[in-house]
Amino acid sequence: MSDDRERRSHFERLYTLEGPADAEAFYADWAATYDADMLERHGYRGPALLADLVAERVPDRRAWILDIGCGTGLVGVELAARGFVHVDGLDLVQAMLDRASRTGVYHRLLKGNLLQRPAVNADRYDHAVSAGTFTHAHVGPDGLDEVVRLVRPGGRAFLLCNAGAFVDDGYGEKLERMTRLHLITLAETLDAGPLLDDGRRGTFVVLDVHR
Ligand SMILES: C[S@@+](CC[C@H](N)C(=O)[O-])C[C@H]1O[C@@H](n2cnc3c(N)ncnc32)[C@H](O)[C@@H]1O
Repeated sequence: MSDDRERRSHFERLYTLEGPADAEAFYADWAATYDADMLERHGYRGPALLADLVAERVPDRRAWILDIGCGTGLVGVELAARGFVHVDGLDLVQAMLDRASRTGVYHRLLKGNLLQRPAVNADRYDHAVSAGTFTHAHVGPDGLDEVVRLVRPGGRAFLLCNAGAFVDDGYGEKLERMTRLHLITLAETLDAGPLLDDGRRGTFVVLDVHR
């Protein structure tokens, strides 16, 4: 397969993953070319947009932040550029974490599946952030339970969700249930605009964690 076809096929397969084993094989194969492919070829701006929002809303640059589905570390790099110094990363795929490690901006990198209670203590983080992971065929609304467990009461989660998945996959209903249970307050939902050159849009979801 030519480099060109291989890259296109990764991007096109992004929303067709069938569970963790498939995701592991897919991202292990994509890890080495993910950054060039997403940033240069497809104009991915999700990590920079997310980091801009976090930098506006979180004055304490020493806060402990967990980057969920950190991948190769694009969000961590953008947070570090805005002065954040305590960022950990969590991801399902070791090859992606290996790339994230090379950035040098993460304090700790953890391998784990958000949907299967990763081995991290409850209330460990002041805030959680995530880009590109709450999307089709990746993590759905049920992943929010673990976000709320990992963030301390009084902390916040800043999630950049795929806008189509946000509407189609039942995030609104899940957030209402969590609000009724006094686990969260939905502080903001904001249109993030286009995340990629093809026009795919994002929705920012900002949660105040109470639990
Ligand atoms: C599209 S990439 C986004 C990576 C990075 N946040 C970015 O914006 O470039 C999605 C990432 O989510 C990770 N992922 C998918 N399902 C996951 C799960 N259940 N738990 C943890 N990470 C997961 C993948 O391994 C992959 O690195």
